[in-house]
Amino acid sequence: MTNIETIEVAAAAGAYPVLVGEGLLNRPGGLKEWLRGGGVLAVTSRTVAEIYLDRLPALLGADECESVILPDGEEAKSIGHWQRILRRMAELELGRDCALLALGGGCVGDVAGFAAACYHRGVDYLQLPTTLLAQVDSSVGGKTAINTDWGKNLLGAFHQPRAVLCDTAALSTLPQREFAAGLAEVVKYGMVADSSFFGWLENNNRRLLARDAACLRHAVKRSVEIKARIVGEDEHDRSGRRAVLNFGHSFAHAIEHSAGYGEWLHGEAVAAGMCMAARLAVGEGGLRETDRKRLEALLSAFGLPLCAQGLGADTLKRAMLTDKKNLKGAIRLVLPDGLGRARLTSDFSHESLDAVLAGQQP
Ligand SMILES: NC(=O)c1ccc[n+]([C@@H]2O[C@H](COP(=O)([O-])OP(=O)(O)OC[C@H]3O[C@@H](n4cnc5c(N)ncnc54)[C@H](O)[C@@H]3O)[C@@H](O)[C@H]2O)c1
Repeated sequence: MTNIETIEVAAAAGAYPVLVGEGLLNRPGGLKEWLRGGGVLAVTSRTVAEIYLDRLPALLGADECESVILPDGEEAKSIGHWQRILRRMAELELGRDCALLALGGGCVGDVAGFAAACYHRGVDYLQLPTTLLAQVDSSVGGKTAINTDWGKNLLGAFHQPRAVLCDTAALSTLPQREFAAGLAEVVKYGMVADSSFFGWLENNNRRLLARDAACLRHAVKRSVEIKARIVGEDEHDRSGRRAVLNFGHSFAHAIEHSAGYGEWLHGEAVAAGMCMAARLAVGEGGLRETDRKRLEALLSAFGLPLCAQGLGADTLKRAMLTDKKNLKGAIRLVLPDGLGRARLTSDFSHESLDAVLAGQQP
């Protein structure tokens, strides 16, 4: 095993570690220190199960590992699959000292985390994220959720994992489109919190796209450090501090909703959404045009979309009006003030927003 980095995430119920390194899924007994001795149930998705599920017994130091295998993608985040996990836990007669292992992307992590939050009013879970998006974002911070027929992520809980193991070697099997979508969230961290990380991403974009091991490790570690710092300051997303992590996301949710869920990958919508927010920020005088162009150039180098082509401004605006960040009916957006700085605000011109949604320069 080369270089394992550990980042601590502060939380009211106790800090937990995020480990980043290659081969974390290959360490015999590598999970033991976070288990309380009760039973263990792994939750994973079909594709991930085929590649990685057989690693779990060794990782647990056991002969076998019980598992629930969910469909790939958003379909896993349903009430039905959440209930399946809970029923299996009950069948196995798991007690309060048990643990769920969430092995997979953000969808598996979200539904398994929510099952862990609910079973016996809360049991342990460990995140073993296998997508770039899950490693740099969804596995850290304790937001768990499922989708309902009245909206995405609308049923959930804050429930922090006991530990997160980001095995960057697992990213080698990720399809290119999924990998690029994760890079959008990495760029987001540079934009909202760290201009020198943004510069590092510009200088290393080719190596990163080629999934160079050292580059990947650094990109995941720095992203997790930034997320850990911000969620540590605002665990339950109440002060507006954590909201900066939603840079581009109000536009992204509107894009995903308007195009129909599944058409765009979340990270692709975030890329276009960040470009739209940046356009608005330039129009409002907060961001320099040269910095907006740098953002577009970096996202473009990663093969990500820069606008929501083909989606009508009215449809997008209607979807934005239902965003969770809005306050008393007013749209609130995260707008950058420069590279590495952003804030949540409702103080912008609606004419400029309409122009951005229509694909024009405000
Ligand atoms: N909880 C949070 O804070 C938070 C933050 C951001 C996003 N999310 C949620 O995360 C979800 C998206 O997560 P995602 O982008 O990881 O998508 P995903 O979970 O759908 O995974 C993408 C696809 O890649 C496959 N896969 C996963 N790892 C693989 C690997 N190593 N090799 C090959 N295939 C692999 C999966 O089976 C799936 O088909 C959304 O539901 C979003 O709402 C949650």
